[in-house]
Amino acid sequence: ESTLGAAAAQSGRYFGVAIAAGKLGDSTYTTIANREFNSVTAENEMKIDATEPQRGRFDFTAADRIYNWAVQNGKQVRGHTLAWHSQQPSWMQNLSGSALRQAMIDHINGVMAHYKGKIAQWDVVNEAFADGNSGARRDSNLQRTGNDWIEVAFRTARAADPSAKLCYNDYNVENWNAAKTQAMYAMVRDFKQRGVPIDCVGFQSHFNSGNPYNSNFRTTLQNFAALGVDVAVTELDIQGAPASTYASVVNDCLAVSRCLGITVWGVRDSDSWRSEQTPLLFNNDGSKKAAYTAVLNAL
Ligand code: XIL
Repeated sequence: ESTLGAAAAQSGRYFGVAIAAGKLGDSTYTTIANREFNSVTAENEMKIDATEPQRGRFDFTAADRIYNWAVQNGKQVRGHTLAWHSQQPSWMQNLSGSALRQAMIDHINGVMAHYKGKIAQWDVVNEAFADGNSGARRDSNLQRTGNDWIEVAFRTARAADPSAKLCYNDYNVENWNAAKTQAMYAMVRDFKQRGVPIDCVGFQSHFNSGNPYNSNFRTTLQNFAALGVDVAVTELDIQGAPASTYASVVNDCLAVSRCLGITVWGVRDSDSWRSEQTPLLFNNDGSKKAAYTAVLNAL
């Protein structure tokens, strides 16, 4: 195969990319994105501040630009993200307790209703665990509404759109030995045991010197899959884009039958939220990097 998406499709998987609505007028960008990828995530446009800028006033203008571009070009869409401590509109930042809990529920219902039946996977909850060795939940306004906020979010999401796969998504959870990974594993195991509706776990996979790729990533993916959830690599970028590390990540996903696919967090290095790390598959001029070839050959 000659593109990432077509190569991934040979094993029933997708190869996706994060898209920014503001770049859809850049033909170098859209040419690569349309040619190479068959799944799309909105980099920012489906987040809480973008979709509900004022309480109860939903705005899907930018989100729909990405959604429509994706569907018109035959791509599936990952929804990102419904409940998160970050990129909250100021009205939500200022809420707490039962009012915030209700606002979270209303937000999930409002966004999922707009896209009902149209989203392959939703990141229902993003980044709920703390960094470091505590294995604790991250402190946030949502966490302070009560430890059950995550399961409430998932139950709300299942009722709002039963056709979407519901994912928990986090970063620095690729290394099996990390406390954060173990805490996430315990939560997913508990949810499966108690029947909380969760279908998938997203591993952001922002690899750099602070969170280096470790070959036990495959073990992590296998262990989560063994709990009865699908897994996905949701925001891949690798500092310096070493070809061999990109190939390893692809091989790890391909080794796990429940690994649905891989999404890279941007098209060209210049599109990356960490552009100084040159972590992506395409150079700024749109040419393919060595990492691109390594990924294509591994798929
Ligand atoms: C990032 C975007 O890439 C940036 O444009 C934005 O300024 C901040 O958010 N984890 C996530 C993503 O789940 O939503 C983040 O995206 C990167 C880290």
